[in-house]
Amino acid sequence: MTLEAQFERTLAKDQRIEPRDWMPDAYRATLIRMIAQHAHSEIIGMQPEGNWITRAPSLRRKAILLAKVQDEAGHGLYLYSAAETLGVDRSELTEKLISGKQKYSSIFNYPTLTFADVGVIGWLVDGAAICNQVPLCRSSYGPYARAMIRICKEESFHQRQGYELLMTMMRGTEEQRRMVQDATDRWWWPSLMMFGPPDAESPHTAQSMAWKIKRHTNDELRQRFVDMTVPQAEALGVTLPDPQLKWNPERGHYDFGEIDWAEFKRVLAGQGPCNAQRLARRRAAHENGAWVREAAAAYAAKQAGRRAA
Ligand code: 3HC
Repeated sequence: MTLEAQFERTLAKDQRIEPRDWMPDAYRATLIRMIAQHAHSEIIGMQPEGNWITRAPSLRRKAILLAKVQDEAGHGLYLYSAAETLGVDRSELTEKLISGKQKYSSIFNYPTLTFADVGVIGWLVDGAAICNQVPLCRSSYGPYARAMIRICKEESFHQRQGYELLMTMMRGTEEQRRMVQDATDRWWWPSLMMFGPPDAESPHTAQSMAWKIKRHTNDELRQRFVDMTVPQAEALGVTLPDPQLKWNPERGHYDFGEIDWAEFKRVLAGQGPCNAQRLARRRAAHENGAWVREAAAAYAAKQAGRRAA
């Protein structure tokens, strides 16, 4: 049996492709692109909420936020490790992120203006990430699927802490309720953009589905997220900023309005509200951390020298 036939048979039997298995170059390249984009998203995603750690309204909220931001760093490390099983090095991927050659999720190019944003990011952004990523636990590439299992467990804590924060604020003052509605208005549509362009305009979805890297299309997962979130918004007592949002009994789903794809394209092209700041911060952190990498490498070389002696 040829290597291609073995690869196809593994996929057909819904089994996993592992690092030592033969795989088409294009399959490898797709996974490197997707896993790198995901890892970059986790690391850049630390910035919007990190902005509020020193200004959290209580010790409890500060501790929760610290744990969440730390989790995101860990997710980035798992995912860079998964990418490295495909033959790339995280330093190379970091360079591509900093130079703009590789993307991170558009969602992190929006500002976090009040502490209600921390709750809405947990509820909507981490909620969308769960919708998008639970199916990836069944992705055909072993290391990616396994990394996603732990990430999704932690994302569900992220989503729940955000929703609980919002519930608390909605039982608070009129001003706090206004903050939650304002944050919901700003984050709702960018959260729908996290799922990618419409299927008809997605250059990668069909092939990624054929290779069972993706298990659902962008539009299917976006619809699943809308259907899941509308009742949560009702329970919270906030209004989602879409007058066309309406249950469609024939479809068995919520109909919703048209996403501003021009905005999506602008943000992907680097013209979002915070793109420049996010990359500048990531570049500075990388440069400021150079001495740590050099010291660790020197120590490792010294240890290796000692073992060889
Ligand atoms: N932000 C930035 N780029 C996006 C994007 C978004 N929201 N949606 C799509 N794109 C990019 C794709 O990377 C691709 O660009 P490229 O060809 O230059 O790499 C192009 O737009 C076409 O999009 P496709 O839908 O055809 O591409 P994919 O098949 O890769 O699908 C995806 C895009 C749905 C984001 C998919 O890559 C995916 O599911 N990735 C894994 C999950 C992930 O990365 N989620 C990031 C969310 S943030 C996060 O999880 C952090 C958590 O803490 C909240």
